[in-house]
Amino acid sequence: APTEGLVVVSNREPYSHSYDGDEITVERPVGGLTAGLDPVMQRASGTWVAWGDGEADREVVDEDDRVRVPPEDPSYTLRRIWLDDDEVEEYYYGYSNQVLWPLCHSDRGRITYEPRFWKRYRDVNRRFAEAASEEADSGSLIWFQDYHFGLAPEMVRRDRGEEVTLAHFWHIPWPTWDDFRVCPQSEQLLEGLLANDLLGFHVDRFCAQFLEGVDACFDDAVIDWDAGVVHRGDTPTLVESFPMGVDADRIQRLADSGEAEAFWDSFRDERGIDADAIVAVGVDRLDYTKGIPERLRAIEYFLDSYPEFRGEFVYVQKASESRSEIPAYREIQREVAETAERVNDRFGTDEWKPVVNVTEMLPATALYSLYRHADLALVSSVRDGMNLVAEEYVASQLENEGALVLSDFAGVDDTLGDYAYTINPYATEEFAETIHQTITDSPTERRNRMRQMRQLVAAYDLDAWMDDIFETVAELRAESADSG
Ligand code: G6P
Repeated sequence: APTEGLVVVSNREPYSHSYDGDEITVERPVGGLTAGLDPVMQRASGTWVAWGDGEADREVVDEDDRVRVPPEDPSYTLRRIWLDDDEVEEYYYGYSNQVLWPLCHSDRGRITYEPRFWKRYRDVNRRFAEAASEEADSGSLIWFQDYHFGLAPEMVRRDRGEEVTLAHFWHIPWPTWDDFRVCPQSEQLLEGLLANDLLGFHVDRFCAQFLEGVDACFDDAVIDWDAGVVHRGDTPTLVESFPMGVDADRIQRLADSGEAEAFWDSFRDERGIDADAIVAVGVDRLDYTKGIPERLRAIEYFLDSYPEFRGEFVYVQKASESRSEIPAYREIQREVAETAERVNDRFGTDEWKPVVNVTEMLPATALYSLYRHADLALVSSVRDGMNLVAEEYVASQLENEGALVLSDFAGVDDTLGDYAYTINPYATEEFAETIHQTITDSPTERRNRMRQMRQLVAAYDLDAWMDDIFETVAELRAESADSG
């Protein structure tokens, strides 16, 4: 099985240790990729290589920087990589998040390139590659996650040759060649990724754009367009889409718990939200790709156009600060705060505020409770690899009564677009009109759409996503055993 001796490599770690007074406590991420991969690793009992950024992380590792996790019932090894301040600044904030992130989201204007960013990205990729190589047995699958490791696959391949299988999942979009080629290192990055046996994206469009880039960049690449295979150098690379899913069972269970009910009642109470208010929800990292100002402008336009919903419509916004060292992120934080304030100033009364900001951390149960009770979710990314918030909202909708307003520019629209209320986040009038439509459509219409979406989300959940990837790896191995 491909999961035997599995080595996962990601920038974020699944468990981080911190101090609580004299005691050391463990934190784990609430959602997303790291939370999702953890159960797989528990079953596979492999090794996870990641940046140890917890303040007490060094206290708990052995002399090889390893710690067994989960702490209460250890089943796999977490191998921590330490990054010094320069590495964090230049590899993480620099090349990863000021070059590759805006580049892959087709946002040239937000790219800040510095030669030292690139050098450090290469060095840190080498450190992760060496660690992964050390942790891998002959026959291991090494599975890289995301844009932080564009070069590591090639480095591991040089070291280990064909005795390891390399897979990579790129969780963010892949842009057109015309956008990608602005990157000073476009060729090196493509080469780095082509060392993988398998390269996965969320949607077909990103795969096609990657292949077109390879075709344009290299004269000697032979591409089998139907199969999605690149032949260049020793290892063919299969490029395929695997739209990521969420742990729908767990989300439903938590959304249905007594704790979730209790949260909703007290939350509404504290925030002064009427029992019959129409509640819209938006949950995002505060990132310029999420279309949050565009969403607020649509809400403003909606309240302008439909004054009858003033006093009745409440937008609950849970936006968590992210990557705040980067000027573009501080700028978007400011813009979101100002726009929300403007909307509240314009329309708010003593009894009612249209925008309710949630600043505190919400545990998973609280989040799913919010999703369950929200009449609509607003996902308005201007670019997004997938967007799991949309799926989490759907999975939480036990009554099937809510509506998903979904940007055409999020990868998940390829999966849910037939049943979601699709919008263009920049088209403020239509966006506002769509909000109105979700509220005024018949409950039957909403329920039909939501039921279809819930089936899709349940059928292609996180387990199915991973099985699909591991099965594909197994097939690749069988093929190369036949031909070799
Ligand atoms: C996106 C990326 C992930 C990343 C996450 C949080 O979803 O695809 O790789 O971990 O954002 O961002 P951060 O920079 O805090 O890890």
